[in-house]
Amino acid sequence: MSVGIDQIYAYAPQLALPLPALAAARGVAPEKLTLGLGVEAMAVTPACEDVVTLAATAAGRCLRAAGVDPRSIGLLVVATETGVDHAKPVGIFVHELVGVGPQCRVYEVKHACYGGTAALMTAADWVRANRAQARRALVVAADVARYAIGSPGEPTQGAGAVAMLVGPTPRALFLAEESGVHAANVYDFWRPLDRREALVDGKFSIECYLDALAGAFRSCRALERPVLEDGEGLLDRFARVLYHTPFPKMAAKAHRRLLELDRRSVTDAEFEASYRELVAPGLTGVARIGNTYTASLYICLATLLENEARALAGRRIGLFSYGSGCCAEFFTGTIPAGAATLGPTGVRDALTRRRLVDVPTYERLLRDGERGGEPPADFSGDFVFQGIRNDRRIYARAREVLAA
Ligand code: HMG
Repeated sequence: MSVGIDQIYAYAPQLALPLPALAAARGVAPEKLTLGLGVEAMAVTPACEDVVTLAATAAGRCLRAAGVDPRSIGLLVVATETGVDHAKPVGIFVHELVGVGPQCRVYEVKHACYGGTAALMTAADWVRANRAQARRALVVAADVARYAIGSPGEPTQGAGAVAMLVGPTPRALFLAEESGVHAANVYDFWRPLDRREALVDGKFSIECYLDALAGAFRSCRALERPVLEDGEGLLDRFARVLYHTPFPKMAAKAHRRLLELDRRSVTDAEFEASYRELVAPGLTGVARIGNTYTASLYICLATLLENEARALAGRRIGLFSYGSGCCAEFFTGTIPAGAATLGPTGVRDALTRRRLVDVPTYERLLRDGERGGEPPADFSGDFVFQGIRNDRRIYARAREVLAA
C-alpha cells in the first residue's frame, strides 16, 4: 500500500522579531545572525497563544484544506517538547477544538525535535497495518522554542506548528518504508522539568547533529546500495534535500557533511551549486520563522510543496530529522503527481500576515510567558488561550471571542 502525507498545513504566530533588531540590542554585528546563522526573523507568541492553539489552528486548517471530516480520524498524535501538563496531552485539547470524534486514539510523543518524525512514522505504520480498511491519522508537530534572554541560543528561537494528514494514496508525499536511524544518549540540549527555557551545549549540539546525520545517512544508503550505479551517490537521486533546521546555517553545515560522505571530497563551488539547488529552496520559511523544534523539518516540506509542488511532481526528495538527546532519521519520499492540486500549505499566509515587534515587546512577551489573554482585532489564529482557572486551561474560538 502507498502511504504518506495526504495534506500538510503550517501555522506560525503572527508576531515576529527581526534579527537585526535583536543583534543591535545585544551589541553583536547583524551579519553574525543573518549570515552566520542565516536567520532573518523569529516568530514570537502573543499572550493569547500557546502550543495548543498553534497545534489546533494547523490541525483544523489541514483538515479543511483536505476536505476531510474530523470525525473520520482514527489516530491523533501531537509531537511536542512544549507540553502544557505532565499528564494531559496537548492532543486531547486539539481533539476537542477541531472536532475529532470519540473513536480515536489520542496521545502525545516526545523526543526533542525528532518527535514529529516519530509521530509521522508511527502514523504511517498504523495506516499500513490495516490494509483491509483505509484509515487516516492526523499528526501535529508543534513547539515554542525558548532560550534564555542574552544566551547564544536566543537568536534561534521561534514558534509554529505543522499538521499532516497521513493516509493511503497521498497527495503531498509518498513515504518510503525504509529509512536510516541513529540514536545515542548525549547531553547536547535538554530542558529539566522545572525550567521553561532549554539548556544547551551549543557547539557540542552541532557535533551531535552532524554525527547523527552521518549515522542515519549511512544506514539509509546501505539499504539503497544494491540499486545505486557505480560511482553514483545517494544524493544524486534527490531533487531536494530537507534538514531539521534550528537555523539555516545548520542545514548548510549538514549538506556539506552529506556531500563529503556521499562523494568523499567536494570543492566549495560544488558545495555552493548543490546547496543552491537541493537545499536553499526549502529554507525560505524557516529563515523567517526560526526554530520550531518538532515542526522545523515539516515547515521546510510545507514551504517546498507550496512553492514547487508542480515542478517536483514525480521526483524523490531526502529528509533528515534530528532530535537532541538524541535520535535521528534519514528518510525519503516521492512527490506524487497529485501534489499540484494541494493548494496553499500555510507558510506564505503566515509570513504575509505577520506583524513585526520591537525588542522590549519581545522581551516582555518572553518573560510573561503564554499567560492567556484577549486576541488582537487582526488575530491570525483560529483559537485563543484565555488563561488558567481552577488549574484548568481555557480555550475558545477566536472568531467567537472577537465577535463578543
Ligand atoms: P554562538 O556561539 O554565539 O555563535 O552561537 P558563533 O560564534 O559560533 O557564530 C555563529 C556563526 O556566525 C559562525 O559561523 C561564525 O563564524 C559566524 P560558522 O563558523 O559556524 O560557519 N559569524 C559571523 N558571520 C558573519 N559576520 C559576522 C560574524 N560573526 C560570527 N560578523 C550556536 C551559535 C548555534 C551555538 C547558538 O546559537 C546555540 O547554542 N543555538 C542553540 C543550539 C542549536 O541550535 N544547535 C543546533 C544543533 S542541535 C539541534 O538542531 C536540536 C535542537 O533543534 C533542539 C531539539 O532537538 O529539540 C536545538
